Amino acid sequence: MYSKFLNFRKLILSALLIVLVSVLLQRVYLKSSSNIPEVNETTKKLIYNKEELSKYDGVQSERLFLAVIGSIFDVTSGSKHYGKSSSYHYFIGKDGTRALVTGNFKDESEDKDHILDLKCDNIFSIMHWRKTFREKYSYVGKLEGRYYNSDGTETNYMRELKAKLKLCKEEKEKVEQENTEFPPCNVSWSEEEGTRVWCSKSSGGIVRNWVGVPRQMFTPGKDKPKCVCAQQETNMLKPYTGCLSTSAECFVKVEH
Ligand code: HEM
Repeated sequence: MYSKFLNFRKLILSALLIVLVSVLLQRVYLKSSSNIPEVNETTKKLIYNKEELSKYDGVQSERLFLAVIGSIFDVTSGSKHYGKSSSYHYFIGKDGTRALVTGNFKDESEDKDHILDLKCDNIFSIMHWRKTFREKYSYVGKLEGRYYNSDGTETNYMRELKAKLKLCKEEKEKVEQENTEFPPCNVSWSEEEGTRVWCSKSSGGIVRNWVGVPRQMFTPGKDKPKCVCAQQETNMLKPYTGCLSTSAECFVKVEH
């Protein structure tokens, strides 16, 4: 019986090993499957200008390059996404960072790599894209332009972006901290009842061991209060009119 168990264990281990080896082999194959010659390491440039980058379009050069926030990646292995007539061919041979969040694949303006005016969430999303490209494709170099100077140093624009990113992260942490202390309420609306707000142990996506009571929180600069679940009263909070102070559910009365 024991030896049967050992044999079974061996079988499972061998099967796992085979799966692991084939996954590894597949990865190696995918990375090197294209017959297109790699850009020669010794002649590879580290800084490209826009015109040079535009040549890596899969036709003038067989390789496919794109830039995100001024970093150039060789995405030839992803030709099913980026090749001619593929869904994301727009990004090839240029820095079209902005379209990563706007989805505007027709933007050929000078602003197609401009992102400083975007909302924090969009900037986070772009940073996440750059991370994905770094992990999936090989880094080729820098694009001279909005983000890098011709000597590869960072431009003022890049410095401003980094400063904005820092502010965005601080703001996000502040909101997360506030959400832990005062999680948002659940909200629903129906024609009969109007707006119903209520607290639960997971309202606002904040899982906790308390429920709290709905309160209106007023924030400077915002004209409408938001509904938060509170454990105790503070002077930032106002109860809902006509709602019991201990009730976990209130109906929002429109005050005239
Ligand atoms: C702002 C809009 C969008 C942008 C900028 C975008 C961008 C991209 C990019 C760059 C890739 C390739 C990633 C790689 O190199 O691996 C990709 C893959 C993909 N996208 Fe989008 N996308 C957008 C919207 C959509 C929408 C609306 C859908 C679905 C309806 C979609 C479905 C997919 C799928 C399924 C893949 C993976 C395909 C595969 O791995 O075979 N995308 N997307």
